[in-house]
Amino acid sequence: MARKLLSLVACLCWLLAGTQADSAKNKAKEQDENWWRHEVFYQIYPRSFMDSNGDGIGDLKGITSKLSYFVETGITAIWLSPIYRSPMVDFGYDISDYRDIHPDYGTLDDFDELIATATKLGIKVILDFVPNHSSDQHEWFKKSAARVPGYEDFYVWEDAKPGEGGEERAPPNNWVSVFSGSAWEWHDERKQYYLRQFTKGQPDLNYRNPAVLQAMDAVLLYWLKRGVSGFRIDAVIYVYEDEKLRDEPLSGKTADANSVDYLDHIYTRNQEECYGLIQHWRKLLDDYTVKNPGPARIMMTEGYAELSQLMDYYEDENGVQGANFPFNFDFITELNAESTAQDFVFYIQRWLIYMPPGHAANWVMGNHDNPRVASRYGAQSVDAMNMLLMTLPGIGITYNGEELGMEDYRDISWNDTVDQPACEAGEENYKWVSRDPERTPMQWSDEKNAGFSTADSTWLPVHPNYEELNLVNQQLAPSSHYKVYQSLIKLRSSKVLKDGTYTAQALNRRVFALKRELKGQPSLLTVVNVSNRTQQVDVSNFIDLPNRLTLLVVGVNSQYRVGERLKPAEIRLSPHEGLVIQLRPSK
Ligand code: NOJ
Repeated sequence: MARKLLSLVACLCWLLAGTQADSAKNKAKEQDENWWRHEVFYQIYPRSFMDSNGDGIGDLKGITSKLSYFVETGITAIWLSPIYRSPMVDFGYDISDYRDIHPDYGTLDDFDELIATATKLGIKVILDFVPNHSSDQHEWFKKSAARVPGYEDFYVWEDAKPGEGGEERAPPNNWVSVFSGSAWEWHDERKQYYLRQFTKGQPDLNYRNPAVLQAMDAVLLYWLKRGVSGFRIDAVIYVYEDEKLRDEPLSGKTADANSVDYLDHIYTRNQEECYGLIQHWRKLLDDYTVKNPGPARIMMTEGYAELSQLMDYYEDENGVQGANFPFNFDFITELNAESTAQDFVFYIQRWLIYMPPGHAANWVMGNHDNPRVASRYGAQSVDAMNMLLMTLPGIGITYNGEELGMEDYRDISWNDTVDQPACEAGEENYKWVSRDPERTPMQWSDEKNAGFSTADSTWLPVHPNYEELNLVNQQLAPSSHYKVYQSLIKLRSSKVLKDGTYTAQALNRRVFALKRELKGQPSLLTVVNVSNRTQQVDVSNFIDLPNRLTLLVVGVNSQYRVGERLKPAEIRLSPHEGLVIQLRPSK
């Protein structure tokens, strides 16, 4: 009897241990599947991040040497702008070999080491993938231009139209390049035009040729096997064009026929097949995830488009899944230093309202194509914008240097200007077009070249404000943008920010508040003054009372201190100030 009892107990223990192991496994699996839903993705512009070999250009070893910085900051996912072989006409967005590293950045071994170190430190790496165009120096293009069998249709080629007014020939239609001028480039060897929606060194690939898709699938698998956790898909909205090559209608926005704004891009952007392509890659990534250990492999898509078009990249009207998320650029394109509190509430809610259920929102605060936060919203707004980024539901995307409040260096001289569209705009106009100002080297310290490089000159000049504005200073200061950013990231592990509901309200035209709530958890309130005037607000009607309000995060110039109590009816905000407040029911 006793023996029987013993074996029954042993059996029960075994079963229990089994279920515990199963539930731990399930939990780990769920975490692996959903890791990206509340992640902060940190964009690295490799050329400007850290130079390890003193040539004035950032590189992979430089990034690896700074991985501990992410651990210290609380960042667990980075995405790298292109690191592949490239003639660098568009600084890596013109790829001449999709499977190799540009020598300026290092070698494949350096890449493997970066992945191995990052993995050890719990940091996931996402690569930029540029499917729409290659470089004109890519083997594929050279073969295509020479009509080598199998490559004839790798790119979008078209015959010339007869020229008018003495011109020998004319482009096939009126399409314009994003960087201005005709989107068609004459190729003398092939005696045809090729399509290039960006610079002339970036010919558009032809995805109506199945061989192109096959080649690109293989590229994705190649990098997945090297250990990346996913891709940022560049310029996806441009991949397909109207097969009939119809002229695009005039937009009426400008009389300048060379400007990208001249046309309404109904035949060159967001064509139906673009969504199909993303769905195809969704499947490729999911299949890879299922067949291999590791986290869900993800995809974020880049495209400046109408909201309804963007939403279809999440999933189409039949529920077919696409990207994990299409970038939400509203903080860049729709909101600015002039926006009212109502504007902020409107655009934040608009994304959440239109996003198909079950998906994760995302908020891009900056990138290498647009002026920095400190320059768009003003230096005083840096902390408040980071508070928003971190307390909104979903994913936050930070461009390197924004955690320090780095500023654009708009005064880069014409001689030092390297961004292609700026060079094409000419000495008179380059300043306002150039993307160099937001791409200057990362400001690590007040040492030579801001600690970025030991070279005598760097590929872009360092912003002259680096002696003051740099990471070391901010680490040493009692309060700094960096420290605010760090405390915000820490706060993100709270349940209420992960899973809480979200409500936003304009308290007046200058101040708005967001509330995150979750049953059984203290609520969080982010209050932001978007104006350049001091404001006193009363949040009593926006929160449940009685409630104890304790400050969790304050900006560098705040009159308040962390831990201080506030009265709901008397919250005073300096110009552009943001506050993150904890609400606890008072006993
Ligand atoms: C978007 C990238 O972010 C930008 O830098 C690039 O010039 C274009 N795509 C073309 O690839």
